[in-house]
Amino acid sequence: MLPQALTINDIKIENSTTKTFVLAGSLVAAPGQFVMAWLPRVDERPFSLAESNPVTLTIAAVGNFSRAIHQLQIGDKLWVRGPLGRGYQLPGDPLGFENQTNLPHQAMLIGGGYGVAPLHFLAKRLLTDGHHVAVIIGARDEANLLCVDKFKSLGVSVWLTTEDGTCGQRGRVTDALVPLLADSPNKPHMVYACGPTGMLEAVAKLCQVHRLPFQVSWEAHMRCGVGLCGSCEVGHGWLTCLDGPVFGFNPKFLDAW
Ligand SMILES: Cc1cc2nc3c(=O)[nH]c(=O)nc-3n(C[C@H](O)[C@H](O)[C@H](O)COP(=O)(O)OP(=O)(O)OC[C@H]3O[C@@H](n4cnc5c(N)ncnc54)[C@H](O)[C@@H]3O)c2cc1C
Ligand code: FES
Repeated sequence: MLPQALTINDIKIENSTTKTFVLAGSLVAAPGQFVMAWLPRVDERPFSLAESNPVTLTIAAVGNFSRAIHQLQIGDKLWVRGPLGRGYQLPGDPLGFENQTNLPHQAMLIGGGYGVAPLHFLAKRLLTDGHHVAVIIGARDEANLLCVDKFKSLGVSVWLTTEDGTCGQRGRVTDALVPLLADSPNKPHMVYACGPTGMLEAVAKLCQVHRLPFQVSWEAHMRCGVGLCGSCEVGHGWLTCLDGPVFGFNPKFLDAW
């Protein structure tokens, strides 16, 4: 799959480290899928789709490549290959999880850092299919909370957590999740998470304790993005670019994490 050059139509500054790039082009893609973004003579890196129509990427500047993207201006070009990988499975997809076909489905979305952006794409898809959506957004502090107004404008329930207590509940996303899992009428049928590895591990452990199915969008070092180089192997022979980046687990059937 060759990269296509897409013009940057809009750039939104989300916070001190993160920008959202809206590109002139669309893809037929599922929430959770990613593209390989390429800058000639710089590098190529994977980024989750924050939207597929138009192609939208929310990117934190943390190293050489992401900082180079942050230098781009409206009218510049970014090359993308994709969509790649397996996205989030939606209710009715053949996962074999309990309540998968019971409609409407109660979805709990949990996001941290730039991981919140692809969950907004997922929320829109779940709402279009008639499901109930709640979201927990976590960050270090208020300035780093992403997409809060975008989620509120969807009309979904939004819980906020900050580690320093500057907005919402003081603590981590799991601190907000625990009481919601105990609340049986609102107990989710599926947890969908995207964010830093530590957050995903904590959410996964909690879901295991509560015997709740969950899907996490995992990150690994990628080179080819299409299953050829093996650099994204995460154990069990699984390739993050092909078998993921979204991995689904049902603790009732699978106790290993
Ligand atoms: C499936 C997938 C989806 C992804 N989606 C997104 C996305 O939507 N938005 C996005 O911004 N990135 C996303 N990434 C990460 C992205 O691909 C790059 O790894 C990231 O932009 C860093 O690349 P770099 O070359 O700028 O920095 P590097 O040179 O690779 O790293 C520079 C330094 O920053 C550290 N670092 C790397 N990543 C992070 C991080 N996330 N937070 C803090 N420090 C970090 C490294 O440990 C290193 O010390 C995704 C990765 C995968 C595998
Ligand atoms: S990135 Fe090459 S096999 Fe996954």
